[in-house]
Order: sequence, then structure tokens, then C-alpha cells
Amino acid sequence: MVETRRNLDECLSVRNGRLFVEECDAVNLVKKFGSPIYIISEDHLRRNIRRYKKAFEDRWPEGKVEILPAIKANWLLALRHILSEEGAGCDVYSPGELYAVLRSGAEPEKVSVNGGGKSQDHIKNCINSGVRITVDDIDELDLIEKVANQLNKKARIRFRIRPSFPNLWKPTAFALELAPIDIGVQVYKNGIPTEHVIEMGKRALKMKNIELMGFHIHLGRHHGSIGFWKGTMKRYAKLMAELKKEWGGYEPKEIDIGGGIPTPRDPFARMVNRFDVPVFSVFFVVMLLLKLLGNKIRYKILSAGMSMLLSKTPNKSRAPEIEQYAEAITSTLRKSLVRYGINPKGMTFQIEPGRSLYGDTGVHLSTILKTKYQTKPLKYNWVLLDTTYFFMSGGVFELNLHDFIIANKADEKKVMTADVVGRSCFADRMLPEVRIPRVAPGDIMAILDTGAYQEVSASNFNGLPRPATVLVKGNQAELIKRAETQEDVFARDIVPERLMKGRKMAKAV
Ligand SMILES: Cc1ncc(COP(=O)(O)O)c(C=O)c1O
Repeated sequence: MVETRRNLDECLSVRNGRLFVEECDAVNLVKKFGSPIYIISEDHLRRNIRRYKKAFEDRWPEGKVEILPAIKANWLLALRHILSEEGAGCDVYSPGELYAVLRSGAEPEKVSVNGGGKSQDHIKNCINSGVRITVDDIDELDLIEKVANQLNKKARIRFRIRPSFPNLWKPTAFALELAPIDIGVQVYKNGIPTEHVIEMGKRALKMKNIELMGFHIHLGRHHGSIGFWKGTMKRYAKLMAELKKEWGGYEPKEIDIGGGIPTPRDPFARMVNRFDVPVFSVFFVVMLLLKLLGNKIRYKILSAGMSMLLSKTPNKSRAPEIEQYAEAITSTLRKSLVRYGINPKGMTFQIEPGRSLYGDTGVHLSTILKTKYQTKPLKYNWVLLDTTYFFMSGGVFELNLHDFIIANKADEKKVMTADVVGRSCFADRMLPEVRIPRVAPGDIMAILDTGAYQEVSASNFNGLPRPATVLVKGNQAELIKRAETQEDVFARDIVPERLMKGRKMAKAV
């Protein structure tokens, strides 16, 4: 038989109507490892990190380029080992993440420990292991100095700063309401306000056991455009110049620009349509008026109109390529530094991709359990999966709408509209009112781009055990995290003896 093949990207393809992750048939992965399940492509993770490195190294000849993937996006130890093998550093936010990265062989001087509220023990661990401490709190500097003096060791630090961004006026994707990015950025809690950092820098530069290596910013994924990055880099350079003036000519050895570049199919906040609010207000009034015609006619009209109003379509336009971001970021940064009187020669450039590195390496596979429809009073279709949006909580927080494909019917036409729902008792609308092929119980739904933030934020709501993760490399697949058992879900519970005394318990099944 001649194979028909359609590539969705470098990692996913459709062959004879079936979805493949690299060389592995997605349906066979479910047969072998169970459902639901997270799949990660090792090949694609390696491709992504190499491409990132090359894109920035080609465009930042001034100094070293270090890629510090944000481990919060996916802290599976096997993935961290792959990234360490590729020479990547790491952005860390907590003692737990530091524990994970230090166990994976990353070079400590390429690890940035971020985050507010660091404890004395955590700081001690940071100094002893030789990682960079990215200072976020106003009083953190004194604590770091105290610990460094006690250990008689040098602490290498950077300040996470908070430029203002009057040049970023487009709507931020962080807010449901229409709000400009410059306000969204100010509301975000992290970073040291400029009025404090001026004074902190003057003191830090005099401290014997502190070496101020440079600066850090991270704003998050406010906007997917190249323009967002140009605006950010200009203001970042401007604030560095202001600090140079205040600090007697200080110039940073390293500049970290954080993360926030979108995944190519960028599902971020695609559930948000800012025009829904006025449209639904009008719709509400129309619904009330329709009551005058009687409920039968009202539901008939609503059945026709609801789907149009409620349906969502995953993003079909791809975000700019990483090389385009790299070009805009490095050229604007270089130009702005020079313009404001800072010499970029010899400066190390760091970037902390999360979603754009891990996102499209992952697919979440789940089995269709049931389909259900009603024709009255309102027409509606549901497709029930054996997963839940509690296993994709990162996406829920971000109001993401992921693209999807029926793994065993990948070439079939989309002929119906349905709510694809998860199995928790919440509404659990994973893919609300989307167009899908005719599906049946046993079909496999593949939700795409789940490599970042999903597994790491999954919860056990309704007592559901969290799924396993499988790593795919070419045509090989191996388990890198086992699924939870029902016992695991209750493993931390302690029932005081007195509550069990004299009572018969049902046997666990
Ligand atoms: C300090 C820091 N760096 C990098 C990232 C990664 O961001 P993204 O996944 O949007 O690239 C985050 C995410 O919150 C972060 O807090």
C-alpha cells in the first residue's frame, strides 16, 4: 500500500490517516502505555534547544549566549538530563526546582535562581552550589551578604529589575479585560522597583562577598508579536543606562531577558474573546425578548445561533519563527545599549524559554469514552474524554485553546460541532464547541502542544490519579514517569486512630 503522509511540523505527521509522534503511531502508544497519557518527543526537544542556541549565537557575536530553559515549564528529570547534555543552563524558581536541576548535571554557573521570599537555607544552598542568585526582594541582598560572609564564599548575583514600558500599549494577553501591556507589566509582582534597586546596587558594589554580574527581566507572554520584544529591549537598555549613571559607570557582564516567546501554534488565551462581553450583553437582551415568542420558538432560534456564538477555533496562524525573534531582540538590544552609552562587547546574553522550548514537544493522548447529544430543547453534542482539564491546568490558568486531532481519524472531515469535555465533575470544557469528525467511543483524541506547563500543574481533583509520561525517540518509546495509582492519590492522608476505632471499613477494590 502506498503511504499517504502529511507533516504537521517536524515532530508530528499524519500517515494513512493516523497521527505519528516522530516514528511512533499515537494509537499504538496508547495501546502500549495506557490512556490518558502525556507524550514528549526527545528528538524535538533536542531540535528546539539547538535551534534556539544557533538562532541567538548567530546574532549575538558580542559574547557568550546561554539558553536557560525555565524548568517550571516541565521538570521531568529525564528532560532535564537531555537539556543538560545539550549544554543548556536553567531558570529555577524554587528549592524543588534547584534540587531537580542540580541532579541533572547542569553547569551551576548557567543556573539562575529566581523568585521572591528565598529562605536562608535556600540561599546557602545556592551559594554552596555556585549558581547565580537572581535577586527579587528588596531585603534579599542583606540576607545573601550575611550568608556569603558566614560561608566566606562569593555570591554571584543579578538584580531582577522592573523597567516601565510606556512604549508597550497593545492589549496584554494576561488580562481578560482590555488593558495595555505597560499596565499589565506593572501589576505583575516580580522584580525590584527602580527606586529601591538604585540604592541596593550602590551597596552591593561595595560588598566584599557579592559580585553583581548583571540584570534580569521576565515579563511573561503578554503579546506574541515581534514589536513587543523590540519595545521591551529598548526600555531594558534605557533602565540599565540610568543605573549606570547612578552607580558610577557600572556595566553588566550578563543580561538575561527571561522568557515569554510563544509556542509556534500559540494556544495562549485563545478562549478569550474580548468582544464576548458586549456581544453576550446584547445576546442576553435578545434572549429575554425572544421569550415573548414562547420557549419553543426561542430554543429553536437559540439552537441555530448558539453554536455560532460559543464555538471556538484553535489558532491556525503560526507565531513568528525563533530566528525572527532572535533578530529583533538582539539587534534592538545592541542598538539601544550603544545608543544609551553601554558597550555590549563581551556581554553574555541569556534567555529563559519555557513554552517556546517545551510546548510543541508534547502531545496529550486520551480516549473518547462516550458521545452524547440532545436535540431538544437546545441542540447540543458532547464528547467525553478519559482525561480532564485538571491534567492540563497550566492551559486552564492561561485560558488556552489547544489544537487537536483525532489520532485514528486524522484525515477525516470535520462534520459536527461538539463540546469536548473532560471527566471531572466540573463543566470541564477542554475544547468548547469545536468542529470534529464523527467520533465514537475508543477513538483517540490528541491534544497538541502540551509539553509546557500542563503535566507540572496537573492536580488530583475528583481523586483522579495523574497520567504517565512517555518519551519518544525515533521509533522508540519509554516511560519516564509512571502513572499514579489510586493508592498514590491518598498516600499522604493520615486518619487518626480514634476515627477508625470500632468501625468496619469497606475493603478497597
Ligand atoms: C523567570 C522566568 N523565566 C522564564 C519563564 C518562562 O516563560 P515562558 O514559558 O513564557 O517562556 C518564566 C515563566 O513564568 C519565568 O517566571
